[in-house]
Amino acid sequence: MITNHTIPLLENKRILLGITGSIAAYKSAELASRLTQSGALVDVILSQAACEFVSALTFQSITGRRAYTDEDLWGHEAHILHVGLADGAALYAIAPISANTIAKLSHGIADTLLTVTALAIRCPLLIAPAMDAGMFEHEATQANLALLRERQVTVVGPAPGRLASGQMGIGRMSEPKEIFGHMRLLLGQSGPLAGRKVVVTAGGTQEPIDPVRAITNHSSGKQGFALAQAALDRGAEVTLICGPTALDTPTGVSRLDVCTAEEMEKAVLESIPETDVLLMAAAVADFRPVQISSQKVKRGKGVPELKLEPTVDILAQVTKQRNKKGWPRIVVGFAAESENLVEHARSKLNKKDLSLVVANDITASDSGFGVDTNRVTLLDQGGGVEKLPLSSKTHVAGVVLDRVVSMLRGDQK
Ligand code: CTP
Repeated sequence: MITNHTIPLLENKRILLGITGSIAAYKSAELASRLTQSGALVDVILSQAACEFVSALTFQSITGRRAYTDEDLWGHEAHILHVGLADGAALYAIAPISANTIAKLSHGIADTLLTVTALAIRCPLLIAPAMDAGMFEHEATQANLALLRERQVTVVGPAPGRLASGQMGIGRMSEPKEIFGHMRLLLGQSGPLAGRKVVVTAGGTQEPIDPVRAITNHSSGKQGFALAQAALDRGAEVTLICGPTALDTPTGVSRLDVCTAEEMEKAVLESIPETDVLLMAAAVADFRPVQISSQKVKRGKGVPELKLEPTVDILAQVTKQRNKKGWPRIVVGFAAESENLVEHARSKLNKKDLSLVVANDITASDSGFGVDTNRVTLLDQGGGVEKLPLSSKTHVAGVVLDRVVSMLRGDQK
């Protein structure tokens, strides 16, 4: 079983996590945990009010590192502490941030360890407000937030919902998962794919037979979603075109939902002009019913005979027009194979004129459709064959995107 949750983008990066006084402070424990499990070194700074809701020990236990409070501001290391914390930090996230701390930051007030560190950092700053709806809507808070946004501070949320007062309104801190997604975006923004546009397709298509039935396949979309996340982590602008799936959308992608192969073809052709890379991970149906019954086919009428016709090969369509100005130079295809993996994948690479083929063995129970792991072999135009050991789909995505980065570099020469 593969249990490593480390994310290369976060591994050994020092992240500052500020926590101010709000009941949402308990949710920050989950954020600290996600960051730590991803491999980040998390230094937590609690305001005095935060300590009324949660304790430094909570965060020390989660991060395995010392958590700081205002007592440290007046301790014997105080004169260098905030500079030391700020120095080399990759990102400072303050979640939750109260209206009071927003006001302090917007005016450069530095009377606590949390706020003095905010003035000392040279890394991006992200804030996730949490307060009562009336306080959030107040002109003073809105003006302070506008000022911070002008200074390139990323503001995540707040979200609408039930507030601590019992009333409904906008003021709940965004969920840790969403804050984590935005932190990932900020950390990746100057990565090797910054300024590049990537289109990814994912999941299986559905070809309707009648209003209740369809021809589809077992693709879950997991590998395609992992590719989209890996492209985001490297700084790319990502469009994700997917068949029906219940997977969460990675923070920062533009997602287009489609159903049939024809809809996917249209979405791909509309999305790829001015794009650098197409990663075609979707399991597109190869055949569809010639006729779709507008009414449900009734059992009493006997077993129907389905006449099928081929769908368009989207990849072949794209590579046929490869030299069109602004079309992707790098086109990666996937080959789902149940036998003669390398041979069949090589023939797809050549026939579809691809930059790279990711061939996966769909016969193994720990590879291919639905599971979180994959067994893949990468085949490139130069005749190279790289067989990866059993890996998480996240790891496979990272390897594919690293190959894309080096192909783009080669392309520039
Ligand atoms: N593909 C496509 N359009 C289709 C079918 C497949 O663009 N109508 C793409 C897939 O997204 C994948 C690659 O072609 O990247 C190979 O898909 P696969 O199903 O393995 O192969 P097919 O070309 O459909 O050939 P076969 O089913 O005979 O193996």
